[in-house]
Amino acid sequence: NARIGQVILDNLREIPDFPEPGVLFRDITPLLANGEAFGKLIDELAEHYRGKIDAVAGLESRGFILAAPLAVKLGLGMITIRKAGKLPGPVIGVDYELEYGTARMEVRPEAIHEGQRVLIIDDVLATGGTAAAAVELVRALGAEVAGVTVLLELAGLNGRDRLPGLLVESGVTF
Ligand code: PRP
Ligand code: MG
Repeated sequence: NARIGQVILDNLREIPDFPEPGVLFRDITPLLANGEAFGKLIDELAEHYRGKIDAVAGLESRGFILAAPLAVKLGLGMITIRKAGKLPGPVIGVDYELEYGTARMEVRPEAIHEGQRVLIIDDVLATGGTAAAAVELVRALGAEVAGVTVLLELAGLNGRDRLPGLLVESGVTF
């Protein structure tokens, strides 16, 4: 969606050599701080997914910023898929690979219902490890992943390859 891409690009800040030398960090906080732009982004996402999904799952922590307003706008519930140890039990979890070491995402089984169409949303798709773990959690609870949406996709890291057969939509691809 060109309008979503434009509002992201217009409000993006690029910081060279952060968090380490050689990395170009793309910062969405100027977008979040611009009330008109943030509102437009959420409005556009809501129109895009209205009627196609039953719940919005945000990935801790930056995905939460997007999932909550989108869910409210659509009159849907928001599911928090969290980093290990943050949610009180019972939870189910999935381990995934990071560049160095592993991480784990968890969700409360009661938060997701069988047959629900769940949209997974996050700020960035990089290697796809985080999103793939979320997909596994949603599916493990008998729900359907309606799609994976991110504002920014770092295509060089091939995150899409870890989400085969899924609708993966990104606002801007680098
Ligand atoms: C970042 C980003 C995505 C994820 C993408 O989160 O917000 O969630 O990495 O990387 P991947 O596609 O290689 O898995 P991070 O773990 O830095 O935490 P944060 O959202 O809490 O800042
Ligand atoms: Mg994150």
